[in-house]
Amino acid sequence: MIRVGVVQTSPRFGRVAANLARALRLMATKPADLYVLPELFATGYQFSSRAEVARLAEPVPTGRTCRQLIAFARRHRCAIVAGLPERAGRRCYNSAVVIGPDGYLGCYRKLHLFGEETCWFAPGRKAGAVWTIGAFGSGGSGKATGSVKIGVMICFDWFFPETARSLALEGADLICHPANLVLPYCPEAMRTRSIENRLFTATADRVGTEARGGRAPLTYIGRSQITDPRGRLLFRAPAKGEAIGVVRIDPRQARDKRLNSYNDLWEARRPRAYRGLTVRCKGERRIKD
Ligand code: ACM
Repeated sequence: MIRVGVVQTSPRFGRVAANLARALRLMATKPADLYVLPELFATGYQFSSRAEVARLAEPVPTGRTCRQLIAFARRHRCAIVAGLPERAGRRCYNSAVVIGPDGYLGCYRKLHLFGEETCWFAPGRKAGAVWTIGAFGSGGSGKATGSVKIGVMICFDWFFPETARSLALEGADLICHPANLVLPYCPEAMRTRSIENRLFTATADRVGTEARGGRAPLTYIGRSQITDPRGRLLFRAPAKGEAIGVVRIDPRQARDKRLNSYNDLWEARRPRAYRGLTVRCKGERRIKD
C-alpha cells in the first residue's frame, strides 16, 4: 500500500518563499509516501508578461523551489510531484518536477497550454512520462512500503484523453495531476479518465482568485481529489480553502485491466481502427523545436 496525498493550496502571486513554506508546512501535518502539489504552486498562475515569467521561473533541478522540495523528500523519505515554471535556456515551460526519497528523478513539460499560457510558455514535446517510485521509508520507520509507477500530466492536459491514455499505455498505476482549474468539468472528467484507463488519479488543485494587470479574474475551483480505477472518489477537498487529503492505495489494482471474463481493456483495444488519432488535423499547429 502507498499513501498518496493531494495538497490544495492558496498561493499569493509572486510570494514564492512564503507559498513554498506554507505548502511544506501543510505536507508535514499528514505523513504520506507521495505528495502531489498544484500547477505553478509556489509562484501563482496569472502572469502578466514574459519578463515576469522569466524572473519567477527557475532552472530544474537546481532552482530554489526544487532544492527545498528535494530536501523535504529526503527528510521525510517520500516522493513529490509539483508544478513550477521551468527556465531552460531562453525558454520557459510550465513543468512538473518528480522527486523521490533519494532526490530528483525528472520533469514533465505541459503539452497542452491553456489560455494566456500560450503567450508565456513553450509547449512540451512528449506525453507518456512515467517514473517508478518505491522503497519509501514508512513514516521514518525505514520499512519499505512497495513501489508505484506514476505518470504525470498538468491541468488542461485532462481535456485531451490521449494524454492520460499515453500514460496508461506506458504502465502508469497512478496519474499525478498538478492543476490550477478554472473550468468546472475536470473533477468529474478525471473519474472517467480513471475508469477508461483503469488506474488511480490524484489531482492537486489550488483555490483563490487572481486578477492581475487589469485582466479578467481567474477563480480556481479547488476540489482536489483522488480517484480509484473504478472512478470512485477516495478523497475530495472542498471548493474553498487549503486542504490536504491522504489515502492508502494498492497500485496492483491498477495493473488488472480485466473488466470481466470477456473484456480485457488492453486486449480489446483496436488501435488500427482509430485512424484519425495519429494523423494531423485541420488547424493543428506545428510546434518548432
Ligand atoms: C489550466 O490548464 N491551468 C487551466
